[in-house]
Amino acid sequence: MDDYAAINLAHWNSRVVHHVNGYGIEQFRDDPNHLSHVVRFDIPRLGSIEGLDVVHLQCHIGTDTLSLARLGPRSVTGVDFSRPALDAASSLAIECGATISYVESDVYSAVETLGLENFDLVYTGIGALCWLPDIARWASTVAMLLRPGGRLFIREGHPMLWSLADPRPDGLLVVQYPYFETEGVKFSESFSYVDHEEPLTSPDLVHFNHGVGEVVMALMNAGMRLLSLEEHDTVPWNPFGDDMEEVGDGEYRLRDEPRRLACTYTLQAEKIAIKET
Ligand SMILES: C[S@@+](CC[C@H](N)C(=O)[O-])C[C@H]1O[C@@H](n2cnc3c(N)ncnc32)[C@H](O)[C@@H]1O
Repeated sequence: MDDYAAINLAHWNSRVVHHVNGYGIEQFRDDPNHLSHVVRFDIPRLGSIEGLDVVHLQCHIGTDTLSLARLGPRSVTGVDFSRPALDAASSLAIECGATISYVESDVYSAVETLGLENFDLVYTGIGALCWLPDIARWASTVAMLLRPGGRLFIREGHPMLWSLADPRPDGLLVVQYPYFETEGVKFSESFSYVDHEEPLTSPDLVHFNHGVGEVVMALMNAGMRLLSLEEHDTVPWNPFGDDMEEVGDGEYRLRDEPRRLACTYTLQAEKIAIKET
């Protein structure tokens, strides 16, 4: 395993116990129609997924995966490299009576694990691409997982947001980290984005940014056709404390002149079906 992957795996394993307590999991158990706020945000763009074979890459503890399963697809498969995350995801699915197949795999090995062209929809949620060093390799993995005509749906943190330092006291935004793909930036974070008392046992992480153009071109080069690309001024976690305000349903945006910053984007692309001659 590459150095970055071992560091990030230990980091994500150490977040699981806190996320199981901080993701509002009881709402899924109490209400069979409950959906994560991330998926609720996506639904107007995602449309119907009834009858589709869906794979959720980097599914974490499965709250978005379970939400997708509740939208009536034919099958749902969740992929993550964190065993503790998958164990939590499987327990939640069983408790909620959902049939979801959870598979332990690095994203880059997903085709070896799941086979070629077995899915109609690849879904990737917030905070996924930033753990992957090579966007071209990710895009070709997505394309290989999809059947011809299949669709990628991704809402992701915007690379502009990832490139910023904490806002200055006067509210100005400062670009500190690379916008474009690089060899990655090492950080140490003792606390996750949910409230928890004990610091993370593995705080170190390696973060990778990918410019919007790099993501689009990687998908096009992998045989995908862009269907839509929408930038949002909100993000479903609070990256900047008091400089952000919650605007409803778990979405945050800059308190001061929020139209300055694209915080997330939603991209949809379709695998080009090659006509037989
Ligand atoms: C921010 S979480 C995704 C969160 C998801 N949007 C949610 O809130 O449920 C990122 C996930 O990516 C997984 N991950 C990171 N790098 C990976 C890799 N190379 N292969 C597979 N999974 C990976 C982590 O284990 C973690 O569960």
